[in-house]
Amino acid sequence: MTSPTTVRTLLILGASGDLTGRLLLPGLARLVARGRATGLRLAGAGSDPWTPEQWRQRVTGAFSAAAKDAGQEGRHALDSIAQDTAYHQLDVTADGALAALVAGLEGPAAIYFALPPQVSQRACEALQPGQLPPGTRLVMEKPFGSGEESARNLNRTLVQLVPEDHIHRVDHFLGKATVLNILGLRFANNFLEPVWNREHVEKVEIIFDEDLALEGRARYYDGAGALRDMIQSHLLQIMALMAIEPPATIGERDLRDAVSTVLRAGSVRAPYGGSSRRARYTAGTVAGTAVPDYAREEGVDPARNTETLAEVEVRIENWRWSGVPFILRSGKAMGARRKEAVVTFRPVPHLPEGFTGVDAPNQLRIGFGPDTLQFDVDVNGPGNIFSLGRVTLDAELSASDLLPYGEVLEGVLNGDPLLSVRGDTAEECWRIVEPVLRSWEEGAVPLEEYDAGSAGPRSWAARGAAQSADRTPG
Ligand code: BG6
Repeated sequence: MTSPTTVRTLLILGASGDLTGRLLLPGLARLVARGRATGLRLAGAGSDPWTPEQWRQRVTGAFSAAAKDAGQEGRHALDSIAQDTAYHQLDVTADGALAALVAGLEGPAAIYFALPPQVSQRACEALQPGQLPPGTRLVMEKPFGSGEESARNLNRTLVQLVPEDHIHRVDHFLGKATVLNILGLRFANNFLEPVWNREHVEKVEIIFDEDLALEGRARYYDGAGALRDMIQSHLLQIMALMAIEPPATIGERDLRDAVSTVLRAGSVRAPYGGSSRRARYTAGTVAGTAVPDYAREEGVDPARNTETLAEVEVRIENWRWSGVPFILRSGKAMGARRKEAVVTFRPVPHLPEGFTGVDAPNQLRIGFGPDTLQFDVDVNGPGNIFSLGRVTLDAELSASDLLPYGEVLEGVLNGDPLLSVRGDTAEECWRIVEPVLRSWEEGAVPLEEYDAGSAGPRSWAARGAAQSADRTPG
């Protein structure tokens, strides 16, 4: 058992929404069931005229999986939160409404904006400086703003309401155990640091290919696309952790300073036709299930040219990384799930003559769910001892017993912003991708097509194959 959380009440705005039911409440439940959030009260608010019973049923339903696995104490904690919780119907954007609700809650409160971004923004603008009780925390979902300028405006609004370290911009990838495992791997292993730089690393790829398609999210996704949805947020965060300088501590100040510094050195180079690619899936089959053409999905406006697969090459212009491409790619409805960061090392400067077989560059791969660490090395044999072949050293990385949203919520409830995106970083991430988005809107980079269930456009595979052929000695 840990001590009670700093936050006394978690208020979820958008209580009847999908995010609350699918991710937030289950994440919270596991946290409570494990005894890692004690003494907490839960309140829900929304524009729907829900009865208290409807809300309680939603909470109990979302808690049920965690309750099944919990011990008696955990079950009791979950029950008491569900029994005690209240639902408030209100228009969060109306003057004074949200402030009055928060004033009546047991404080300090964390206000979770599980709302569409424009609504969250209007709700924050409706709050006046000094209206929120001291200690209040604001928890914002992605996307945080719609560009650098709007992220900056939103940041300005928020810091007038509460201090920066009370603002939690959620990126649930930061709650994934694997992402934190990167820090352990990089900074607790002396053999890696001397080679973790431009002298020895040829490229770094951060790939998040999903077999999921649109999943009925056209309203959000068609206005976002893969670059905004995945790369602008999650993948740039992972890139930053792969690239940061060693911090003195993994406290929020040191770590978030390091992340911010490395992102400031990042950019995608023009012309964007060479440094970015985009594509959209057409009808196909993923894991035996037919997937319709993206452009014909309900709620999709084909004229928007929304990409479902995006790739950008980020350059980090500093001493360590100058010249090393960081390739970030994410796609939907892909034939194979591939979620990993891959560091490809440079070939050996000279392979002693007399060896045969394949001398391929070493690769270090960090898999995100299942959480794995793989290291590809060349060894001799089997059979012919002069012949080189590839083996993979394989380890499983520890998983967290919390869900990613639970990890992030734990930080919020304990008043630790470590796993939250800092304001300046949110702006930097937009700065990096905005020129690409603009060039795509201007049509400077063609929107290619790929069959759902494939590995992406054929031309992409051809380019990838050409690159690996370049590296493989005969
Ligand atoms: C979300 C994106 O932030 O992350 C989704 O909006 C994506 O499109 C999801 O599918 C991936 O994260 P996870 O944890 O579900 O694999």
